Amino acid sequence: MSRRTIITGTGHYLPPNVVSNFDLEKVINTSDEWIRQRSGIVTRHYADAGVGSSDLGVEAARRAIEAAGCPPSDIDFIVAATISPDHYFPGIGVMIQAKLGLGTIGALDVRNQCSGFIFALSAADQYIRAGTYKKILVVAAEVQSHNLDYSDEGRDMAVLFGDGAGAVICEPSESGDGRGILSTHLFGDGRFFKALWMEHPSSARKPTIAKELFDQGGFFPHMDGKRVFMNASERMPEAVQAALAANGLTIDDVTLLIPHQANDRISQMVAHKLRLAPEKVARNIDRTGNTTAASIPIALDEAVRSGRVKRGDLVVLTAFGSGFTWASAAIRW
Ligand code: ACO
Repeated sequence: MSRRTIITGTGHYLPPNVVSNFDLEKVINTSDEWIRQRSGIVTRHYADAGVGSSDLGVEAARRAIEAAGCPPSDIDFIVAATISPDHYFPGIGVMIQAKLGLGTIGALDVRNQCSGFIFALSAADQYIRAGTYKKILVVAAEVQSHNLDYSDEGRDMAVLFGDGAGAVICEPSESGDGRGILSTHLFGDGRFFKALWMEHPSSARKPTIAKELFDQGGFFPHMDGKRVFMNASERMPEAVQAALAANGLTIDDVTLLIPHQANDRISQMVAHKLRLAPEKVARNIDRTGNTTAASIPIALDEAVRSGRVKRGDLVVLTAFGSGFTWASAAIRW
């Protein structure tokens, strides 16, 4: 009987500080109306100073472990995704491992930006199906708010981002009941890496860190918004179709699509291209903003805990982000 990966627990954590568009109006040359119209975002959560991505990841991980009903010591591997690590190195995987007291288990750090959670889930799925590990914590965590450009130059991105973390526990199942991760599909096109990037710090530059680079805004994220919009709204539907085709399914089989919460307009375009009813598309960007790699596991946990996803449902995840990278996963819940 073939082995499949099932998700036995989900969790998420949003830091308590809620920041509204009206709060941003006080520090950015923007308006609630502009932000709502262009992104659908109303509020987002910001971490306090001194709180890093690993701290949010630990909270989400604790909730996922509790939901899985296992002692933390059962976790035998970690896959951690972030675009905003606490430090240039090491990654957040080992920091989360140590903060959870998980001994000396391995931790793999995934750097695939907004697509990071699906890439991380895909890696975990391969390890589980190969029999390498039996209880993997997959966690995505982001603190974007500590590095936003509030000037007119950076306001297009500054209004979008929020902080948060989501996590799942992956385990093997040999029950043959059809449940589990059916397939994952990963894509990239590095020709467009400058369309959505943070140029510095750069190992190609000597010295890597210099004051004039700060003055030039090189340490802030930058985006070619139109190019991102066009590519995201093409690539996510393509990735969903790849997942459906690989499993002999059609869009009518989908119970819930969870797209990366990049921007409401992008999600609407994805649903439109797939001819999927809006009520079958997860949406929390109005409350969370864009939490990059964390957005999918946060939305997944909300859907599971609210009862929107039930056993036997077909859940499809899709993401697009910097790289460009994009991905999908089909899961029989
Ligand atoms: N508040 C007010 N005005 C702003 C803001 C802001 N926060 N940001 C930019 N503007 C201004 C610009 O300066 C520009 O002004 P100008 O016309 O005087 O030069 C104007 O708004 C541009 O607005 P639009 O007419 O809407 O421009 P456009 O159609 O190019 O849309 C936008 C820009 C909204 C960024 C669009 O390209 C978009 O939605 N892209 C998707 C990008 C995205 O959501 N990425 C998510 C993050 S990446 C990811 O997760 C994959």
